[in-house]
Amino acid sequence: MKRASHFFRRMNGCALLGSVVIPLCLLHAASNLSSFRPGQDWKDTDGRIIDCHAGNIIYQAETETFFWFGEHRGSPSGVACYSSTDLYNWKNRGIALNKSAAGLGGGIIERPKVAYNATTKKYVMWFHYDSPSYSLAHQGVALCDSAPGPYAFLEHFAPNGNESRDMGMFSDDDGRTYIGYASANNSVVRIVELSGDYLEVTENDSITGAHCEGPAFLRWNGTYYLLTSLCSGWDPNQSSYYTSPNVVGTYRKGYGDDRTGNPCADDPEKTTTTYDSQPSSILKLPGYANGFIYIGDRWNGVGSTRSQYVFLPVFITEKGYMRLPWYDEWNLDVFTPISIDGKNPYRLRTAVDEHAAGGRGLHLVDLLGRNAPHLYFSGGNRMMMNLDRAHAGDALSKGMYLVR
Ligand code: GAL
Repeated sequence: MKRASHFFRRMNGCALLGSVVIPLCLLHAASNLSSFRPGQDWKDTDGRIIDCHAGNIIYQAETETFFWFGEHRGSPSGVACYSSTDLYNWKNRGIALNKSAAGLGGGIIERPKVAYNATTKKYVMWFHYDSPSYSLAHQGVALCDSAPGPYAFLEHFAPNGNESRDMGMFSDDDGRTYIGYASANNSVVRIVELSGDYLEVTENDSITGAHCEGPAFLRWNGTYYLLTSLCSGWDPNQSSYYTSPNVVGTYRKGYGDDRTGNPCADDPEKTTTTYDSQPSSILKLPGYANGFIYIGDRWNGVGSTRSQYVFLPVFITEKGYMRLPWYDEWNLDVFTPISIDGKNPYRLRTAVDEHAAGGRGLHLVDLLGRNAPHLYFSGGNRMMMNLDRAHAGDALSKGMYLVR
């Protein structure tokens, strides 16, 4: 994995920038983070607090870059974009959608989400667009050729005539993309499939049965999970998860024997408020079998610019329960790189061993650039592999693999 190139070279506590030597203390401390610290202040690579709330993160495979979109609650108002190659260190990419420039000066833009449309090759942004009193209850749509923007505002409307406030976005493996939205005065979450170009809603629109804000989705083993908060303004409450075999359809609280639907049920002494946060989205990590990251906001009472983020791993247990454990600090090692269950493990292992024995400089990395020399065998019936298909012969049929 390529690291973001360093803008300046460091020399004995100084930075060489062109021909000018600047003491490092005069520069913003560029952080080099290697973990998530939920609820702590989080600075970008310029040393400034990240201002990117209630949004989502997408992965651009060609550049191995993540883009994080969210409400820019400072000035100018609109949608912020940050980029990262490791999810810990984020570079400010500026304002992706400037509310005033888009002619949306008087209203509010909240909960922006972006998806890449592989057919049109456009980045499409959806967001809750509303009047200052939240009485309009529309969705807005904006479009761009590149991830960071600036996005061109297209229109705002009530999806299928429905009131629409907090929204989440979900792209399924087949490329179909959906938005979940709080409707009917925040009493229900609806879900609607977007058109093929992601610019409009279709009539495939249903009441989910979930309540009632901050909808965030994931799919696991053919089941769709919908995580939502209750409705208490900027104050946090306990989120619940719901499940359904159909992405557009009726969701039931919890899964199997766990009908409480409380994803924090294993940490009851630590939280009744989703660790003082509200869901904004769930990131599905490329290259990981079980890599889902909860992205939530700790709103600091009034949704201030300084509101912190709560990033936590989301696990689906063997029984199918969603669990959101708390960590003061954690990193991506909690996840398992892509797994190939029951897929001819011996042939696969042989392919790796032969490659290594051939002295061909086998260097396994996961899709986030971490060395993965021992990840190809973990015992049991699970095979973990980041391996180029060409080297794996016909042993594999799915997954993403890298050998360097
Ligand atoms: C929350 C909602 C936020 C924002 C806020 C305003 O319930 O999730 O996105 O609209 O209310 O009070």
